[in-house]
Amino acid sequence: MDHFALKDGVLHAEDIPLPRIAEEVGTPVYVYSRATLERHAKVFADGLSSVPRKLIAFAVKANPNLAVLKVLQNQGFGADVVSGGELMRALAAGMTPDTIVFSGVGKTREELILGLDRQIGQFNIESREEGRELAELAAQRGQQAQACLRINPDVDAKTHEKISTGKAENKFGIPLVHAREAFAELASLDGINLRGVAVHIGSQLGDLEPLETAFGKLATLIADLRAAGHAITHVDLGGGLGVPYKVGENPPSPAEYGAMVARVTGDWDVHLTFEPGRVIAGNAGVLLTKVIRVKRGGNGPPFVIVDAAMNDLARPALYGAWHDCDAVVPSGERMTANIVGPICETGDTFARDRDCDALQSGDLAVFRTAGAYGATMASSYNSRGFVPEVLVDGDRYAVVAERLSADAIMSAEPVPDWL
Ligand code: LLP
Repeated sequence: MDHFALKDGVLHAEDIPLPRIAEEVGTPVYVYSRATLERHAKVFADGLSSVPRKLIAFAVKANPNLAVLKVLQNQGFGADVVSGGELMRALAAGMTPDTIVFSGVGKTREELILGLDRQIGQFNIESREEGRELAELAAQRGQQAQACLRINPDVDAKTHEKISTGKAENKFGIPLVHAREAFAELASLDGINLRGVAVHIGSQLGDLEPLETAFGKLATLIADLRAAGHAITHVDLGGGLGVPYKVGENPPSPAEYGAMVARVTGDWDVHLTFEPGRVIAGNAGVLLTKVIRVKRGGNGPPFVIVDAAMNDLARPALYGAWHDCDAVVPSGERMTANIVGPICETGDTFARDRDCDALQSGDLAVFRTAGAYGATMASSYNSRGFVPEVLVDGDRYAVVAERLSADAIMSAEPVPDWL
């Protein structure tokens, strides 16, 4: 459920009519709803209410906007970060170091040092090589890094191949077959307190079964590690819960997910970490755009050319992803359209042969479910500026990321005087 709804025939974000934001901030623009973020955070936490010891660490990559992170920090969330930049954002948003988990397959030496300097709560180590480097750096500083070993359970998450992370051929984690040996080696090093294991098998999961299979494999591993004398006190179950992008999609609810987690992990006697991203932020945001013009198609439907493009919302071009497109002031008429952006690539297509609200030049429209992996994946391709972001809270709103103009970007490109 979200707080983007028609009131008197006009699409609102909470109590703000979207035409007002288009008028005052311009388009394209991402619009987030605070009430929706808070609701999703609460529903997710409620789903896990029977887990006694836990940390919910928002996957910052899904939406790193500082105001969004602040909303979630207020809800008691920590952060799952995958770069030094995300780590600094989490801290800037007020998340305390002990609630920050550092994931990622390619943490640089500088990033490991940053995590140690800030004394973050947990490193999820993805290779023996990374573990050795972290141990050495921590020991040099007289520190002990808190860490889990990320396992690759070789489970097919049944999602888009580009966002699947738990199959043997994926780059993430340590293969289960090597996990016992790797754990024993890294646990013996000064500088690391290797206190558990972590897993994340993919994103936009529409089925709990692959997750349950992965958690089952972890259970066996935990028992083996304990039998070998290791104290396993922490387990990180990653993120991945899907969201509905269109009518008829029914991914598992947080309550169903929580019930499965409780059933599978009930006797583990560990502190659990969760790293949800999309399920918190996805439906809490829309990309508001304006139709530039409508152009007759060659032998197909007309092209509705909007002022948002693949540089602003990359998911359709990258993954063939579906985002619902709705008129902000629907006339009640429908059309079949190819909805495209202005960028000079055929890939800059949001929807093909889409049955949608009738749209004409100058109309406003939204792409829904754009609060996760939207603005965060924007680029300035075709020398377009960076899209701004707005956070709505009831009957007020604030610009929480300014439009970075093409001029501003150009001003950071010095041309050497020897040219
Ligand atoms: N934890 C780790 C270690 C991850 O790699 C990810 C996402 C998450 C948590 C959060 O997963 P979520 O709950 O959001 O599914 N750009 C793609 C999604 C990439 C996800 C990468 N990892 C998209 O637009 O679909």
